[in-house]
Amino acid sequence: MKIKSKILVNKNPKKLESWKKLEIHFNKIKNIQIKEYFKKNPKRALEMSCSWKGFFLDYSKNRIDEKGMSFLKELAKEADLSIAIKKYFNGEKINSTENRSVLHTALRNFSDKPIFIDGKDIMPEIENVRTKIKNFSKKIISGEWKGFSGKPITHVVNVGIGGSDLGPLMVTEALTFYKNHLKPLFISNIDGDHVREVIKDCPAETTLFIIVSKTFTTQETISNAKRIKKWFLENSSEESIPKHFVAVSTNISKAIEFGIHKENIFPMKDWVGGRFSLWSSVGLISSLAIGYKNFEDLLIGAGEMDSHFRNSPLDNNIPVILSLISIWYNNFYEAESEAIIPYSEYLKSFPSYLQQASMESNGKHVDRNGKPVDYQTGTLIWGATGTNAQHAFFQLIHQGTKLIPTDFIGFKNSLYDEIDHQNKLISNFFAQTEALMVGKNKNNLKSEGVSKELIPFKTFEGNKPSNTLLIEKLTPYNLGALISMYEHKIFTQGILWNINSFDQWGVELGKVLANKVLDELQSKSKINHDQSTNQLINFYRNS
Ligand code: F6P
Repeated sequence: MKIKSKILVNKNPKKLESWKKLEIHFNKIKNIQIKEYFKKNPKRALEMSCSWKGFFLDYSKNRIDEKGMSFLKELAKEADLSIAIKKYFNGEKINSTENRSVLHTALRNFSDKPIFIDGKDIMPEIENVRTKIKNFSKKIISGEWKGFSGKPITHVVNVGIGGSDLGPLMVTEALTFYKNHLKPLFISNIDGDHVREVIKDCPAETTLFIIVSKTFTTQETISNAKRIKKWFLENSSEESIPKHFVAVSTNISKAIEFGIHKENIFPMKDWVGGRFSLWSSVGLISSLAIGYKNFEDLLIGAGEMDSHFRNSPLDNNIPVILSLISIWYNNFYEAESEAIIPYSEYLKSFPSYLQQASMESNGKHVDRNGKPVDYQTGTLIWGATGTNAQHAFFQLIHQGTKLIPTDFIGFKNSLYDEIDHQNKLISNFFAQTEALMVGKNKNNLKSEGVSKELIPFKTFEGNKPSNTLLIEKLTPYNLGALISMYEHKIFTQGILWNINSFDQWGVELGKVLANKVLDELQSKSKINHDQSTNQLINFYRNS
């Protein structure tokens, strides 16, 4: 395949004027304390904040000044970010190594504007699929759709992995408050114990299985689906399959071959990457669990964030600002990771969802020309909910030796009006960002009467950076906007790093080797790996 690497410009960011300015500026300001910036500029908090609808972002607690921010914005301009954004939304084939458009954004387009791929408007098909999801959701939720014994569906199991699991799982869990009577469950890992644990509590007569696989060839999903089908047939018969198995895939023939009724296949398109697919039919389980109306609100929120990203100037563009700050730490401070801390238990799967979205996208070692990069790309993403995280790994963020820029995400209003809890939750949320920045020095400790010996242990260096995102309330609309915000942060980073954020060749080698090893585990054939792998295979075979 000939790679059309010219679709997006190819500029090594290190060679850009703005990068050079950033290097010089970094050396000037790298040791300045964030506290000092606040002392100098009483308007810093206001100036380094922006809001959009129910979102308020305060990025003033970062190790950067106005000049640094303006050089970063120059970088975005020099890297032709605005042209890249146009190409992205207009459906140009910016995924050059797979010759594909990247149009998950079309799935949340509710304007009457057409979107073309190869001259064909894709909106009518998107609308048909939305209607299919809506009608199906209605039938399942209302109980009109019956299982083989005539009873309505009670349990829905999503069988998929990676993007066919993490997105719908995170969304369904995050919107639990809006959930109906259906019990959503997820099977992802090839781990047979996991499969058995989930199906053990599923009544075959009232369970619906959604087999979600873009390719319908993924080992984990297909093996799990086959195992589940076998279990189902022990409790029922072939004729009952259409009442209990539906599929989401681009590979219609493979889904039919598996035994899914043609009518029960929800199509996907190759211009939707797995990790960006929760907006497509892949989100079916979310629509079933929270109802189509809420699912559509999620799409609408994401679509409105798309408009914010496309149309806002850099100064006020939330995804762009977040990505520039992230590049600042990654490429100048050489920070290796970023923590994501949502102060909402509903968002407990948000960090792992973002791990795939970000690390599968931007974990790349070559640029858009296929040349090795001479700068750092994708950051490590990790995190957990606050306040739990405070009692687990915050020690390292506060007093460890690593620089870990952290995104704090919180909601102004709780869903159950638990005012006392909400105030405590939010006070922790704000206090952590303050403590990280302010720290505690020798003098503070002395004046508190702390003994000399203990002072080094009780000292907090401070100057730990964070972004604070405060959102009105956890609604489907705001969740959609939040996810879309991070998708565009990831996109912007990929553009500035001059990499292709939309392929994932790095997951292939392990898949191929696993198949080879599987054959060897199941036979006594001669093996020819490295010493360590040979030893492990022999150990397993002889057990
Ligand atoms: O192995 C990585 C990956 O290709 C992801 O990008 C994708 O989300 C996942 O596998 C699942 O793929 P599929 O939906 O085709 O089963």
